[in-house]
Amino acid sequence: MFVWTYKANLRPFIDGLKKQGQSIGFVPTMGALHRGHLALVERSLRENDRTVVSIFVNPTQFDRKQDLETYPRFPEKDLALLEKLDPEMIVYLPVAEDLYGGPVQREHFDLDGLDRVMEGRHRPGHFDGVATVVKHLFEAVRPDRAYFGEKDFQQLRIIQTLARKLNLPLQIVPVEIQRETDGLAMSSRNLRLSVAHRKAAPEIHRLLNLAREMALQGQNPEAIRMEISKRFKQNPLLELEYFEIADEKTLQFARTFEPGKKYRAFTAVFAGDVRLIDNMPLY
Ligand code: PAJ
Repeated sequence: MFVWTYKANLRPFIDGLKKQGQSIGFVPTMGALHRGHLALVERSLRENDRTVVSIFVNPTQFDRKQDLETYPRFPEKDLALLEKLDPEMIVYLPVAEDLYGGPVQREHFDLDGLDRVMEGRHRPGHFDGVATVVKHLFEAVRPDRAYFGEKDFQQLRIIQTLARKLNLPLQIVPVEIQRETDGLAMSSRNLRLSVAHRKAAPEIHRLLNLAREMALQGQNPEAIRMEISKRFKQNPLLELEYFEIADEKTLQFARTFEPGKKYRAFTAVFAGDVRLIDNMPLY
């Protein structure tokens, strides 16, 4: 396994591989790796000669100080998991100032309004922080393909838009949501749930499934939204922040389902002080 912390060392190493004609897959993460992350890594290993995984808890994308401070960190365990998947794995553990090449600050991006709904509306500055760090990571790694989970579908759409706007010569590859057997979407934040909240959390997936059934039965987005919001309110351990149905491409809220377009239900829920997000395709 090859572990790098400074761009000045990582870059020549990757350039050397590229000169040998090797393709580079890249999986950016914030660590506390679980099977959701590993699905991205395995896909990259299958599709590329070499894979780079970055682990960096990016301060500029956190809108709540407490969330940044309590974000789980298990560097040794993460490295052991990655080495097991591939002894040739390249791991990038950036130092913030070196990665940012100066002050660790958000830049502002025009993201075609994709950053103004849902997560963007509830977490001001979050997506500028994500776009800033991903831009720096792409510049440091210069991959051929980069892998992003549909668990953070809005983030995925924003990164696709960023890559297009910056004319980056790489392919963004989406990977399906990985779930626990009870349906809860895997997330590093699940580790922080109390026993009672962990037990309550699969309700999120059940209600997303119900939304899908209602859509298949021909109900309109507003009727689905009202019914699902009502059901969330019946669960005392879950506090709904939003439940929305949006066009997959524009992420604008849907008033009707138009033929030929794809729609998804998106939700953010507090289980105690842990904020969980999930989504599901409706067609
Ligand atoms: P993090 O939350 O660590 O997630 C890293 C990648 O793993 C993201 O692309 C995310 O969508 C994917 N992922 C997480 N849980 C998943 C699941 N259950 N199924 C499928 N994919 C899953 O997302 C970030 O980090 C950061 O914002 C980052 C892109 C690294 C920028 O800091």
